[in-house]
Amino acid sequence: MSVEVYKLTDSVYEIRVVDRSTRFFEGYWEIPEGVTYNSYVITTPEGAVVLDTVKAQYALEYLEALRRVVDPRDVRLIVVHHSEPDHSGAFPILYREAGSPEVLAHPIARRILESRYGVRIERFRAAGDGAVVELGGGARLRVFQVPWLHWPDTIVTLYEPDRIAFTGDVFGSYGSPASNTDRGLDWGWYERLMVKYFVTVIGTYRDWVKRNLGKLEKLVTEARMVAPLHGVVLVERRGEALELYRRLASGSQSKRALVVYATMYGAAEAAAITAAGLLAEKGWSVAVHGSSDSRRMVYSEMLTDAILSRLIVLVAPVYEAAVHPEVEHIVGLLCKKAAAGQAVVLLSSYGWGPTASKLLKPKLEACGLRVVAVAEAQGRLPEEKVREAVEKALEAL
Ligand code: FEO
Repeated sequence: MSVEVYKLTDSVYEIRVVDRSTRFFEGYWEIPEGVTYNSYVITTPEGAVVLDTVKAQYALEYLEALRRVVDPRDVRLIVVHHSEPDHSGAFPILYREAGSPEVLAHPIARRILESRYGVRIERFRAAGDGAVVELGGGARLRVFQVPWLHWPDTIVTLYEPDRIAFTGDVFGSYGSPASNTDRGLDWGWYERLMVKYFVTVIGTYRDWVKRNLGKLEKLVTEARMVAPLHGVVLVERRGEALELYRRLASGSQSKRALVVYATMYGAAEAAAITAAGLLAEKGWSVAVHGSSDSRRMVYSEMLTDAILSRLIVLVAPVYEAAVHPEVEHIVGLLCKKAAAGQAVVLLSSYGWGPTASKLLKPKLEACGLRVVAVAEAQGRLPEEKVREAVEKALEAL
């Protein structure tokens, strides 16, 4: 873990906690690349404004770093862009050190902060959509409510004199790049981490991304820096980040496929490899994720490939006359986080009877995936059957 302080402009600082010890973000998503928690500080002649804090376990180190920028007792306003504890964990200690300053947040956030941290927020300013908060000397924050990106209490703000957009989780990413900005960054590498963050954290609320795109577009167009709560500050890649959100919200149209399977004794794996090979032959970029008796797939990476794909091949062995538990889990994750109208080829091998596809098809279709081809067989799926199903799916695209 390290805590870094960066000066973004004459009056705006970033305090970045680099967390390389969290293995499972939100207790679940595999992130060997680490994650950062970014807090921002605006200095004004009338006192400092702190925008979000960091995870509770880093609160003391965070406060030390804040002291390098301002005296915490001079903090007159804390802005909470949403109240999730990866950003509000150090809120109670800062709130006490600062002598109960004013708090600007969505009204829902007040209840969450008070109940979670046992504090009473005396001076609360509700952040209404379109509100303008004067900070003195011509400086101001413009507020936009963007519910469900990522929590119901989410706001984003634009700091007007410097045109910095503070976007909360939006445009955030996993990873702990050496630089705090996108200058000189390997964008291809970083963009995948942004997608992984998007699908695992915001994926459930894809429809809300669509609904809020207009506001995000306005914000990014007006800003010269986009400062999220995870990952790097976007200076050069603001347009690419916005375009990425547009694509992720509307579903992939690129020639990318995900082949995902669980296998007990190898038959499902063999069908998965056959399908992947056929797609690759036809010029598709294919990602394969599987679980077997010797390895478990990395769910966060599987979901990243799912949301980037136009076609999903799901290979499901029958298990006790029903669906294998790992496939149940995969379908649950796909439906919750990454279903965006992808076409699905459903392949199944069975020992006793063909039940898996019958059970899975309605589940997949109920969450907005389109099952366009099914093939099943006792034992190993013949290559010809797999080929027919893949070709039928490609025709249906
Ligand atoms: Fe990074 Fe929704 O908190």
